[in-house]
Amino acid sequence: MDASPDVLAETVRAKRVAIDNDLELLRVRLQQADPRRNGNAWQLTKKALPVAACAAALWLWTTRRRNVRSLDQLLVHELTDLYHAERQTLPALDRMCAQASNDDLREALTLHRAETESHVERLVRVFRSIGARPARGSRSSAISGIVADGERLLGRKVDPQVRDAWLIATAQRIEHVEIAAYGTARTRAQKLGYTFAAELLQEALAEEKTADEKLTRIAERLVNPLSIRLAPQ
Ligand SMILES: [Fe+2]
Repeated sequence: MDASPDVLAETVRAKRVAIDNDLELLRVRLQQADPRRNGNAWQLTKKALPVAACAAALWLWTTRRRNVRSLDQLLVHELTDLYHAERQTLPALDRMCAQASNDDLREALTLHRAETESHVERLVRVFRSIGARPARGSRSSAISGIVADGERLLGRKVDPQVRDAWLIATAQRIEHVEIAAYGTARTRAQKLGYTFAAELLQEALAEEKTADEKLTRIAERLVNPLSIRLAPQ
């Protein structure tokens, strides 16, 4: 049967409308089946954000406020602080070596930098010997404070010998914190029966004390003539 052009056009238009309707229906069903396709990602993000924030806060809380219920856990806590203290000291010692003008001081700081590397490795062995590992992501606030305080003055223009005296003071402040921490950890390890760990901690303690005594000798040689030179006339 022949159809007029108008009838054909009307038929084509009707089929196109039907196809468009089917496509729209399909799109709506797909959106219902997969919420990610509904173009409302912002709504999803808004819902997910509080959950993610709570999870992050919980993680932070458990990391920062890890329970310490026994002396074993206290030892791990103390060793973790020491481990991070030694690691934080490495870049600080690099900067201090670069700033020292006295040869003996630079040599002492360079030697102690090498010892500090071995202290980090030794602490890893201590952790292994007691079946623990250092917590990640924390820092020694005592060492951070001393280093920040030390670098505040080093950023200014000062007499090289005065700077050396300040470098010694900063290095000794770090040493004294570490000596106290190693002494406590060594004794606690002994009391808890971790003999090998206690021996390793004693070795580090002895090296820290030797480094401190060396710095005292340099300070005495350096500061006395300096105080005469800078004394008011
Ligand atoms: Fe150290």
